Amino acid sequence: MADSRQIQVIHGPSLNLLGTREPEIYGSTTLEEINATLESAAKKLGAVVECFQSNHEGALIDCIHHAISWADGILINPGGLTHTSVALRDALAATALPVVEVHLSNVFAREEFRRHSMISGIAVGVVSGFGPASYRLGIEALVDHLAAG
Ligand code: DQA
Repeated sequence: MADSRQIQVIHGPSLNLLGTREPEIYGSTTLEEINATLESAAKKLGAVVECFQSNHEGALIDCIHHAISWADGILINPGGLTHTSVALRDALAATALPVVEVHLSNVFAREEFRRHSMISGIAVGVVSGFGPASYRLGIEALVDHLAAG
């Protein structure tokens, strides 16, 4: 088998509260459960994940910069920063790594301000609306993309 693909998984603001945060929108699965699912999904795909969450834009950017030195790709749910952060987009673009953007909710079916993403324009693709499965689908898509490249 080829060497394991190394994926940096990044969760943005307030995703640490999954499980209790607006469960009618985001469900009852916790971030720890999502990370555990990602770890086993990655293993089946011959990949490894490193998971990181922060509520601080600068810490997210530092994590993205660090990924340049070791990761093959980035899976990110930028949370609310999706819709506002030029800085996060620039940091992701600077890595030149393939990026897959994921959202638990279908951001296109919600408030108008969620319909625009600062990140999508530099992403390989976006998975939105499948709850925790968005992450699993996202990592499959990212590993597929890496295999195709
Ligand atoms: C989210 C959607 C964003 O609009 C929101 O700000 C979040 C979560 C999602 O996963 O559905 O924090 O990224």
